[in-house]
Amino acid sequence: MKNFDQPHDMREWSRLQSASHFSIGFVPTMGALHDGHKRLIEVAQQDCDRVIVSIFVNALQFNNSQDYEKYPRLIDADIQICKEIGVDALYTPSHATVYPPGFETHITPGATAAPMEGVFREGHFGGVATVVNKLLNATLPDRAYFGTKDFQQLAVIKRMVIDFDLNVAVVPVATVRQPDGLALSSRNTRLTAQQRDVACVIYRGLEAARTAYLQGEQSSAELMSITKDIYGSCPEARVEYVEIFDSTTLCTLQNISKRNAVMAVAVWFGDIRLIDNIEFTA
Ligand code: PAJ
Repeated sequence: MKNFDQPHDMREWSRLQSASHFSIGFVPTMGALHDGHKRLIEVAQQDCDRVIVSIFVNALQFNNSQDYEKYPRLIDADIQICKEIGVDALYTPSHATVYPPGFETHITPGATAAPMEGVFREGHFGGVATVVNKLLNATLPDRAYFGTKDFQQLAVIKRMVIDFDLNVAVVPVATVRQPDGLALSSRNTRLTAQQRDVACVIYRGLEAARTAYLQGEQSSAELMSITKDIYGSCPEARVEYVEIFDSTTLCTLQNISKRNAVMAVAVWFGDIRLIDNIEFTA
């Protein structure tokens, strides 16, 4: 496995692969790799001749310095995982490489970034869009893979790719969950054993709303209150938001009469903030 930490070295390798007519898949991550990341890599490997994974904990997208400092960093284990699963190239730039002195140009996403995460994590998607743009420029992939777990992030990236005429296909990959329904997340490792035990309530709340929807309930207010009641019954959980919106426009829906609606939630357990979502499809 190749390992690059400079954009021009990374780009040179990618150009060579493309010149040899190998298609390139790219999976951007912040490391602490789990089965969700591995699924993205696996899908990329099925689709593409060469797969690049990046590991970079992007300070620019953290609106909470504690969250940034405490973010799990497991680079040696991550390198081992990438080698074992046959990643072709790892891109691990330092903070100073991505944001050298004098760096001052930022991407400002629009309406897609405004609701939900945009309300509670100011500047977050600007940081995500800026770094993903830089990572795409360094890796020059044909396809880039993003999890639907971060549904709004995926929407912001899709929009940026259209708006900036970027020459890359954005491929969504379904959320990987633990057997009890908890979506895999690097932040799960920071939950206490007690919090981990009850954190599956997040998915239970989402599933209960989907079940009600499948039984005919179409009022967003009703569906959201079903979910909030379930979260209310878990003393460890503190709800930040529960929203129902159109999966393409991300506009809030009062009523779900069409099929492309999504419910997204953010829930705190102590000082750990977890997000998840579910699509209202049969
Ligand atoms: P990170 O949280 O490391 O996630 C990297 C990718 O893995 C994202 O596309 C995310 O949606 C996906 N992912 C996370 N948990 C998943 C799960 N349980 N199932 C399937 N996919 C999952 O998202 C980021 O990093 C950063 O914002 C990044 C895009 C790398 C920019 O810094």
